[in-house]
Amino acid sequence: MTQPVQLRVVSVTAETDAAKSFRLRAPESLSYKPGQFLTIGIPSDRGMVARCYSMSSAPHEDDVTITVKRTPQGFASNWLCDNVTVGDTLTALPPSGNFVPPAQDADLLLFAAGSGITPVMSIAKYVLMQTDRRVALFYANRDSAAVIFAEQLRAMSEDHPERLHIVHWLEELQSLPRTADLQRFASVYPHYFAYTCGPEPFMNAVTDALHSLGFPSDRFKREVFLSLSGNPFEIDEVVSGPGANLARVKGSCNGASFAFDDWPSDVPLLQYLLSKGVDAPFSCRNGECGACCFQLIDGTVEMECNDVLDSYELAEGYRLACQAKPASKSITITYA
Ligand code: FES
Repeated sequence: MTQPVQLRVVSVTAETDAAKSFRLRAPESLSYKPGQFLTIGIPSDRGMVARCYSMSSAPHEDDVTITVKRTPQGFASNWLCDNVTVGDTLTALPPSGNFVPPAQDADLLLFAAGSGITPVMSIAKYVLMQTDRRVALFYANRDSAAVIFAEQLRAMSEDHPERLHIVHWLEELQSLPRTADLQRFASVYPHYFAYTCGPEPFMNAVTDALHSLGFPSDRFKREVFLSLSGNPFEIDEVVSGPGANLARVKGSCNGASFAFDDWPSDVPLLQYLLSKGVDAPFSCRNGECGACCFQLIDGTVEMECNDVLDSYELAEGYRLACQAKPASKSITITYA
């Protein structure tokens, strides 16, 4: 399912003075992985703008919950916190994102700061409720009043005393966490998979700490908050520039085959396939989320931007449809 979905707000909870959780009733067809985000449409003077919000719920829960923290200049987060009430409907693109727990049976080392706890909470709930893995969480905040999910985390600790270890770090008492502090915490869990979400300086300090302890990069994920420049809800018409060459593309998506022969060399594959009525997956349309990933079987494409795929994935033929333009006459692809 890649079309926008309508989500009815069934409850609004103030988590702190600045953060609210919105519990949303989703269609049954909407599925997601712990740690993923929703792209929500927000009305504005300029029409619809899109913002990504991580889910704090886990897939085994009945409803989907996003948790939103106000920021001083945050038009969308302030609009949600000020305007959205029970009974309202939000428009969202299907869940997306790669900040998800590994498939293998690994224990998790989680680092969160401020509202970075949101996807981390989703992951922690899933791992504790649906697996027998262990979780260690380092959670940094300015002061105790800013701790989102304080009560839920306390209850989770009581329910899973052998499997969940939480350290709350309060800046007003301990100053900002330094690399050495994070290193000391992480050194107890050298074989865990590490995840971090929060402000960039915090994630950089976590990265430094893990590198100094020799954590390999395939056992460490950082969540990057997306700032979308375009509007992924709008499907642009395909208008090819003068002199654009046309390529053939064939493949399959969601079990349906397609074959077209007029893909302009200056148009991204995603835009082209959507204009042809193919139900191709996407979310950010900015090369930042990975939702549009496909595999190249034959031919060549060039990508303008790629903040998602690593060298291993590129070598396996994975590419981003929102960024890929044809660089050969004939291209064959598939969506996993
Ligand atoms: Fe997000 Fe292409 S839609 S990377």
